[in-house]
Amino acid sequence: MLGLDESIKDWFASQVSVWQLKNGRHDLPWQKTRDPYKIWVSEVMLQQTQVKTVIPYYLKFLKKFPSIRSLAEADLDSVLVIWSGLGYYSRARNLHQAARTINTRYSGRFPSDFESIVGLRGIGKSTAGAILVFAFNERFSILDANVKRVVTRFFYNVLDVGATHSINQLWSLVDDLVPSEGIVEYTQGLMDLGAGICKPSAPICELCPLNKHCYAYARGLFDVNQKPKSRQKSVVTKNYLVFKRGAHIILQKGSSSGIWPDLLNFPECTNDQLIKLPFLLQQNKFQFGEISQLPALTHELTHLKIAIRAFLIEISSSRRPRLINNSAWIHMSDLDNHPIPKVVRKIIALVARRKSSV
Ligand code: ADE
Repeated sequence: MLGLDESIKDWFASQVSVWQLKNGRHDLPWQKTRDPYKIWVSEVMLQQTQVKTVIPYYLKFLKKFPSIRSLAEADLDSVLVIWSGLGYYSRARNLHQAARTINTRYSGRFPSDFESIVGLRGIGKSTAGAILVFAFNERFSILDANVKRVVTRFFYNVLDVGATHSINQLWSLVDDLVPSEGIVEYTQGLMDLGAGICKPSAPICELCPLNKHCYAYARGLFDVNQKPKSRQKSVVTKNYLVFKRGAHIILQKGSSSGIWPDLLNFPECTNDQLIKLPFLLQQNKFQFGEISQLPALTHELTHLKIAIRAFLIEISSSRRPRLINNSAWIHMSDLDNHPIPKVVRKIIALVARRKSSV
């Protein structure tokens, strides 16, 4: 499509594959299997997360849900518990939903054709390609952020970088590059080069098997494929109320339209309610001690920055006060049995270290 010289295509694929066999990664847990279910789980976890973060979650997930059936039969809560801390929770919801689809639509067998795979929730073209390569040894291309960077730097002169159609061009380029043999090491090689050599900043071009013909290297242009400066994220401020009674705290299930649907978070209040908080608590018969503000925190999501003000309210009554909607008193040593976002765990850890004032 882009009129690439056959010899450069062959050279590119062969350099990547030979380099992978000698210098690439060979011991990642998902490289020890051809089971499409396990590969699928790894690829979904790796979608926005680095390998070293993913590994413990991957192992824990497969221990708890060793098969499509076990995942499909689980309740969403138990999937979110295992996913807690990994972020981008829609991935867990999609994985769970797709396991149910596979159970009903494909009798529990992971499909092996592109159209069926890409039709599952949470699986895009690149993830489908990676599953087909690693589980079925099929010749498919992938185009994740790392691969985009590698091929854009190398083939800069044949691409209209930044043009609106450039993503289609990139797909036709990676399709064109797929070698006739050795698809697994080639694909893994692209991933490994992108992650370890052709890094976003300070790439280690001296060690790159592609440097001899790399457009960007020859011209010192290694930032040609830098993402446009990310737009300023909008900032929202949240007031979290941390009700504590002994070793218990109140956590509330997130609403489906909120930031963390189905996960547990602190009850929130508006600035107006915050001013009237002691009054509101008294009105609701909460017997409380001091209200103190915890150190401010910020938490970043893809499009949003959350500035968090958390207020610790120590409850002194011997009876547990009436609960707010959809909430429960959770023991601070029992957090691992609940789906709780990382930043909420962080705040609880701060609270646990504090001396009680009541
Ligand atoms: N990133 C996405 N998929 C990957 C894989 N299979 N191995 C390493 N990094 C990856």
